[in-house]
Amino acid sequence: MDRVRIGFVGVGGQGTTHVENLLDIPGAELHAICDIVEGHAQNAADTVVKAGQPEPTLYIRGPRDFERMCAEADLDLVFTATPWEWHVPVMLAAMHNGKHAATEVPAAMTLDDCWRIVEAAEKYRKHCLLMENCSYDRFELMTLNLVRQGVLGEVLHGEGAYLHDLREVKFATDGEGLWRRAWAHTHNGNLYPTHGLGPIANCMDINRGDRFQSIVSMSSPSRGLQLWQQEHLEADDPRRRERYVLGDQNVSLIQTAKGRTIYLAHNTHSPRPYSRLQLIQGTRGIVSGWPYRVHIEGRSPAHEWEPAEKYYPEFEHPLWRSQRIQEMDRGHGGMDFLEDFRLIECLRQGEPTDTTVYDAAAISSMVELSIRSVASGGKPQEVPDFTRGKWRQWEPWGIVEG
Ligand SMILES: NC(=O)c1ccc[n+]([C@@H]2O[C@H](COP(=O)([O-])OP(=O)(O)OC[C@H]3O[C@@H](n4cnc5c(N)ncnc54)[C@H](O)[C@@H]3O)[C@@H](O)[C@H]2O)c1
Repeated sequence: MDRVRIGFVGVGGQGTTHVENLLDIPGAELHAICDIVEGHAQNAADTVVKAGQPEPTLYIRGPRDFERMCAEADLDLVFTATPWEWHVPVMLAAMHNGKHAATEVPAAMTLDDCWRIVEAAEKYRKHCLLMENCSYDRFELMTLNLVRQGVLGEVLHGEGAYLHDLREVKFATDGEGLWRRAWAHTHNGNLYPTHGLGPIANCMDINRGDRFQSIVSMSSPSRGLQLWQQEHLEADDPRRRERYVLGDQNVSLIQTAKGRTIYLAHNTHSPRPYSRLQLIQGTRGIVSGWPYRVHIEGRSPAHEWEPAEKYYPEFEHPLWRSQRIQEMDRGHGGMDFLEDFRLIECLRQGEPTDTTVYDAAAISSMVELSIRSVASGGKPQEVPDFTRGKWRQWEPWGIVEG
């Protein structure tokens, strides 16, 4: 398609970033904006107009107004960056009305919802994509390039995580504080598996030659939010009475059909610097994130790490080398821009998107599967095969150019 007419649902923190990115990408047009907060929608509309595009139509009549938008607006793509519970309803409304769907992470919070998006994408023959920005970060893409060029040998093991102290964010009186803490009342598992798992799935050809097969998961006690309440909230703040079940540290082990192993962790309640771990072990070498480092047998000094910087001149991914992409991005930088650029580029060129609805379902299914495993004392849970056997036929994808 020549241009991509977009309706955006949920323009808070992350939605605003996407809108700004999309306005820098040739062919992307913001035709409609939907939010339950009129001020958020208006801010986004002002940004669209400032960028020289016509004023978008606002859909601000409450939490299901995206349905009206999907039904009546002429759009090619509906993009949602709403709180987690709204991702699937928005995407189903989009596909049901003949539009492609893209969502912030995770795509879905239950197994039933994972199947719903798969079935809708197949029935309506629409793209339904998990926008996993970390898969587009510089180190993650160089890792994929090292894997594709065989430098790491056969990939055997991966480690990924979302380790991000969100205590203050969860108690904020705006943004994620309005909805994210609520999940900790009722759910105990890995509520945010995608940043760690997305890049590993690419390196392991998940759904293209291999697939996630089983998971075991355990959670530590829940302490961080309770301690924060006592130390930071006024004595009469009703939030001091809230109780949480989400264990501060959740750890999972995933095995793939080919026998590969993955360690996946989640912790948003403890004092610690940010990390996604980002480790890939192959038969010929290892890369590891935070700090970014590499060891390749025969290249690196024996038993020693080398800084990843040393490997960028030779193994930088073409998307990060691309002058064309660097010129387009007027300063929000890196991975978030790249993921939006690739989505629009694939739709405009009629090329396969970098991931599919099957990836969205497989990666997001770890939310409910980890919860089930934790609840059963760490028993293994079988991961559904959302491809219904097609993962055996589908070929791994190559390295795309910029
Ligand atoms: N990929 C990343 O790095 C990254 C970073 C931050 C957030 N996120 C994801 O983005 C999503 C949004 O997070 P955020 O930090 O922007 O939260 P936010 O609270 O800042 O924004 C959510 C927006 O959705 C609006 N909204 C809520 N319910 C709605 C509905 N029914 N219809 C229309 N609009 C609705 C809110 O008014 C708000 O403007 C979440 O899925 C989160 O996990 C991803």
